[in-house]
Amino acid sequence: MKIDILTLFPESFSYLNSSILKRAQESGKIEINIIDIRAFSLDKHKKCDDYPFGGGAGMLMMVQPVYDAVKSVLDENATIVMPSPSGKTLNVESVKQLSKQEHIIFICGHYEGLDQRIIDIFHPMEISIGDYVLTGGELPTMVIVDALSRFVSGVISEESLKEESFSSGKLEYPQYTRPADFMGYKVPDVLLSGNHAEIEKWRKKQAIEKTKAVRPDLLK
Ligand code: ADE
Repeated sequence: MKIDILTLFPESFSYLNSSILKRAQESGKIEINIIDIRAFSLDKHKKCDDYPFGGGAGMLMMVQPVYDAVKSVLDENATIVMPSPSGKTLNVESVKQLSKQEHIIFICGHYEGLDQRIIDIFHPMEISIGDYVLTGGELPTMVIVDALSRFVSGVISEESLKEESFSSGKLEYPQYTRPADFMGYKVPDVLLSGNHAEIEKWRKKQAIEKTKAVRPDLLK
């Protein structure tokens, strides 16, 4: 899968070069390109934002640099995504859907947002990561890329995907590693028993109890 990220703040994306996402890129499962929108500005000072027509708070990203940046990476297989608080809220289904795309272009808005003509020209999928407003599309883009990468074949083990929260409509059961006793806080005996049927039963029960307590809406 190929991912192009268009942004005015390329330095924000160092997170994508660590841990699992770093390995996914090194092994060629995912290609991530960070594209600096400012490089496309025709203005001699590389200006990319301006005041909104009609007045109002803050600055808007100008149409020309964003348009040219999108055109530089666009092909017929590309899905264009624009993180936005007014988009549809991301969930495990939309993440899985995105993970099947061949090529995704993310447009990161910043300041008060983008000139509407970018939306009218490219019709991006607008995706929200929750009902609150962030300062830009950079963090939501990283959230979406991280979440979808986990569903790209070979990035993490099939087993991890099967057992995780939301895959079964329930939250994940508690997990422990060594030592079995830390300052008197003990690992539940059943996990040390070697009885796999009992362990399975215990985990299912814990998952249901946790979901009931924290996210009863998932059990409906
Ligand atoms: N940009 C600013 N806030 C956002 C949010 N909640 N989700 C996606 N993109 C955003």
